[in-house]
Amino acid sequence: MAQEVRGVIAPGKNEPVRVETIVVPDPGPGEAVVKIQACGVCHTDLHYKQGGINDDFPFLLGHEAAGVVESVGAGVTDVAPGDFVILNWRAVCGQCRACLRGRPWYCFDTHNAKQKMTLKDGTELSPALGIGAFAEKTLVAAGQCTKVDPSVSPAVAGLLGCGVMAGIGAAINTGNVGRGDTVAVIGCGGVGDAAIAGSRLAGAAKIIAVDIDDRKLATAEKLGATHTVNSRNTDAVEAIRELTGGFGADVVIEAVGRPETYQQAFYARDLAGTVVLVGVPTPDMKLELPLIDVFGRGGSLKSSWYGDCLPSRDFPMLIDLHLQGRLDLGAFVSETIALDDIEAAFERMHHGDVLRSVVEF
Ligand code: APR
Ligand code: ZN
Ligand code: ZN
Repeated sequence: MAQEVRGVIAPGKNEPVRVETIVVPDPGPGEAVVKIQACGVCHTDLHYKQGGINDDFPFLLGHEAAGVVESVGAGVTDVAPGDFVILNWRAVCGQCRACLRGRPWYCFDTHNAKQKMTLKDGTELSPALGIGAFAEKTLVAAGQCTKVDPSVSPAVAGLLGCGVMAGIGAAINTGNVGRGDTVAVIGCGGVGDAAIAGSRLAGAAKIIAVDIDDRKLATAEKLGATHTVNSRNTDAVEAIRELTGGFGADVVIEAVGRPETYQQAFYARDLAGTVVLVGVPTPDMKLELPLIDVFGRGGSLKSSWYGDCLPSRDFPMLIDLHLQGRLDLGAFVSETIALDDIEAAFERMHHGDVLRSVVEF
């Protein structure tokens, strides 16, 4: 029988979000209903509300979430009721051309629930990133549930479902940061800080944090930055070169998503170094670079989608490292809030006051 729960929807372009009654169907074949325990507030939720992703209003927001599986539909074998899971927005399909080439972290055909959650009047909702977890319960594809050690705090675990995984993965998966590498991270919000934590985990010798906000640089140091550069007053490229014997960093991670910071990343890396773009640009942005420099500087220019993560491989490992005290995921939770506080949390996020606000249920 379908259930009624409270959830936060974005009703229309730039309209304030509001708490509504959401109708959650029983799970069908391959689906699961998850009782949400915590869900982080991410920029992507704000972009949905602003109409920046698509026009499929109303949206059921929220996608950085952890909770307990309540029920599963026919044919579900990987998770069972009672399992503590992190929700992911890449449920690997196993059949697309990326999966068939053995690169499932690029899966081009990720699964979501087939049935729709609705408002009480039957209006179908579009769940953010196929998740919709600013709700007491949500319906997802079972493959979107990744089991992890249940002794972790749900507020911490949920963040791995999106931004923090994107940042850690940009360093360890896409950037292949290794022992002894020098790394620079441009933009130290939740994603950039996660890239810093990931670089430390991977054994980077020098980790240079670059931001235009001193508050962000202070947090970056706590997460593992060995050097900081405030690029509001200083030329980022020159500063990074100076800190790396005049050469530039082996890996530069761009976690802002703007042409000018990408350009800094491009010139702040050593010859044959790697640039990783994990910040998400807007469609109007253009990049202009001398092609001779693209050739002459060699190396690789990569983009990182969701940290090129494989949830089944990466989530349990990172939670275990956190529980062992080797990865401080707790530092990413700036505050815990209630479901009714999301509009105010968007405001704080916009002003750069928080790394992540997390709704606890
Ligand atoms: N140079 C350096 N740092 C900058 C600049 C700049 N020109 N402009 C902004 N920043 C810094 C901000 O001060 C902030 O600390 O970049 C950081 C961005 O952080 P957040 O706004 O908290 O965003 P975050 O959640 O980390 O996401 C970063 O990744 O997933 C994408 O959509 C997301 O594009 C966004 C990026
Ligand atoms: Zn997100
Ligand atoms: Zn696939």
